[in-house]
Amino acid sequence: MSRKILVTSALPYANGPLHLGHLLESIQTDIWVRFQKMRGHDVAYVCADDAHGTAIMLTAEKLGITPEEQIARVKAEHERDLAGFQIRFDNYYSTHSDECRHYAEEIFRRLDANGHIERKEITQLYDPEKNLFLADRYIKGTCPKCKAEDQYGDNCEVCSATYTPAELINPRSAISGAVPVEKASTHFFFKLEDFEGLLRSWTRSDSLQPQIANKLGEWLDAGLQSWDISRDAPYFGFEIPGAPGKYFYVWLDAPIGYMASCANWCASTGRNFDDYWAPDSKAELYHFIGKDIINFHGLFWPAMLDSAGFRQPTAIYVHGFLTVNGKKMSKSRGTFIKAETYLKHLPPDYLRYYFAAKLSGAVDDIDLNLEDFVKRVNSDLVGKLVNIASRSAKFVLKGNDGVLSGQLHNPALWQQVVDASEGIASHFENRDYGKAIREIMALADATNEYFDAGEPWKLAKTEEGAADAVAIASQCLNCFYVLSSFLAPVLPALAEKVESFLNVSLSWEAPFQPLLGHRIEPFKAMMARVDNDKVQAMVEDSAESIAAAPQGASQASNSGKAKQKSNKDEPQGLTDTIEFPDFAKVDLRVAEIVAADHVEGADKLLQLTLNLGELGQKQVFAGIKSAYAPEQLVGKLTVMVANLAPRKMRFGVSEGMVLAAGPGGKEIWLLSPDSGAQPGMRIQ
Ligand code: 2FM
Ligand code: ZN
Repeated sequence: MSRKILVTSALPYANGPLHLGHLLESIQTDIWVRFQKMRGHDVAYVCADDAHGTAIMLTAEKLGITPEEQIARVKAEHERDLAGFQIRFDNYYSTHSDECRHYAEEIFRRLDANGHIERKEITQLYDPEKNLFLADRYIKGTCPKCKAEDQYGDNCEVCSATYTPAELINPRSAISGAVPVEKASTHFFFKLEDFEGLLRSWTRSDSLQPQIANKLGEWLDAGLQSWDISRDAPYFGFEIPGAPGKYFYVWLDAPIGYMASCANWCASTGRNFDDYWAPDSKAELYHFIGKDIINFHGLFWPAMLDSAGFRQPTAIYVHGFLTVNGKKMSKSRGTFIKAETYLKHLPPDYLRYYFAAKLSGAVDDIDLNLEDFVKRVNSDLVGKLVNIASRSAKFVLKGNDGVLSGQLHNPALWQQVVDASEGIASHFENRDYGKAIREIMALADATNEYFDAGEPWKLAKTEEGAADAVAIASQCLNCFYVLSSFLAPVLPALAEKVESFLNVSLSWEAPFQPLLGHRIEPFKAMMARVDNDKVQAMVEDSAESIAAAPQGASQASNSGKAKQKSNKDEPQGLTDTIEFPDFAKVDLRVAEIVAADHVEGADKLLQLTLNLGELGQKQVFAGIKSAYAPEQLVGKLTVMVANLAPRKMRFGVSEGMVLAAGPGGKEIWLLSPDSGAQPGMRIQ
């Protein structure tokens, strides 16, 4: 029976580019949606940009544009990147829309009318220069515990202490540098505690993965607290009806963006909004999200929906964070890879496949290991799957004029493949794509073994064997046809090529029927091997994009989270710790800059020739051009990592790294040893 399904993935902030962490979620969701559509269900996949908040307002101000211009620019970029990865939305919208305003106001009114909103005066730190209240992340100061400087208002990245901004020593506004003052104002609070009963039964329902249900259970046991849903002007968002100068907090209208996008889609397609959102809706509603935002989706959202008279989500599907090469994504390592950068170097199907192979229905983190990525794509997709088609095609094209045999050569093998259909489908349904992929690849192996055992290349040489060669190849192409159908939700680009080659449209609704006596088209290459150099170039490109702000010694590794919290300033402290033996591997040396040159075609790099005494000379490309003219550098001593493996960059080989500190631009300072140090000396 056909199901009516509404699916969402989390709304990216309209404040910065998408990176591979975002793509993990979009790809996971898109595979699920494509799968459900192939199974004949009536599915709508809606999303939007999350367009409100202080961060977006400040970014626009910095760029000298209006917030509306900022969000329009970013939305266009997001849509371009998502389309590049073949994420097929039914609607991609914005929270800064009439529909979102309408539902935000309506939901607020209903919550208020039901007595779940209270008004309370609170005191917060305020920037007297910028005239705005400062969220914790916009306050910096000295950690009250370990005295580390330049720490954020809520926690210390050096000693991990948590505190209130008022406890910071020497607090400063991170926006203007002014000393913040305390100021009172009235805020609106949503009384989450009124919904304890509802939320307890929700956590016991089947709507949540066990880990998530446990986490929510812990929060419930600890006691629910009212949630501050308002912010004072200046703020980019929706003004609260009847409360001039007060705005809905970005997280109030963010999930309402799901409704807004759905409403907008309904209006343009003649669908009925209530079919999806009314309390008695028969449609299923799924939210795919990362584990960092389960409080919003697992507590606030169900409570808001309930009080405002809308249906509950059928389930929340939570995934873990993305790491690259086993670590948080890092700009200095070049593993903070933007969607756009990936697409410049590699086709989307590879990443879709790799993520699928790694995903399960659990909340575990997913690692993109770049070496494994290359191996996996080459061995599974090129070496196994596409190999079936490329090696079989010629026997049918040449040996039988492009027509597949009229009978299956081995009905048992065909049966084995089609019998796997329902099991594989249930793995997709449960988001256990990794299991589905393993089963599909086992069947690809069986097909290739069948081909090998039949030795059609030998048979084709003899008159009596020629028909058998065609039949074996036809058999294998039939298996390929079904396996490609199973993989179509994961590999839409490949699926299209298979459709043209086999003259079919891939579907997974009715039982599979073999293609007998069926004409196929000339075989064109379907997928190239991943070239390791392309992966390296992508990493290099990602690393280079921060060469404008190379912080050398103090380079922040950043956000291994599923999504970069781009509404927050990026953490500047060291976030990864390393063991001493790892540190001991780093050979830091005093180096004398004997030559410094501009690099043609590079805006950020200088080419340095470094004298390391007995160790000879090394050439390093350093992203310090914005702060230093070459002539200022010659003769200076600095510190370099002397045993960094040479890296081939676009402009030449870089044989190490010089250490520098600072936020970037003109503010980059090369580290220099005290006088007396000699080139080549090891840093102790
Ligand atoms: O964490 C984030 O990136 C948010 N922009 C997600 C919002 S999801 C939803 F609730 F809108
Ligand atoms: Zn501290």
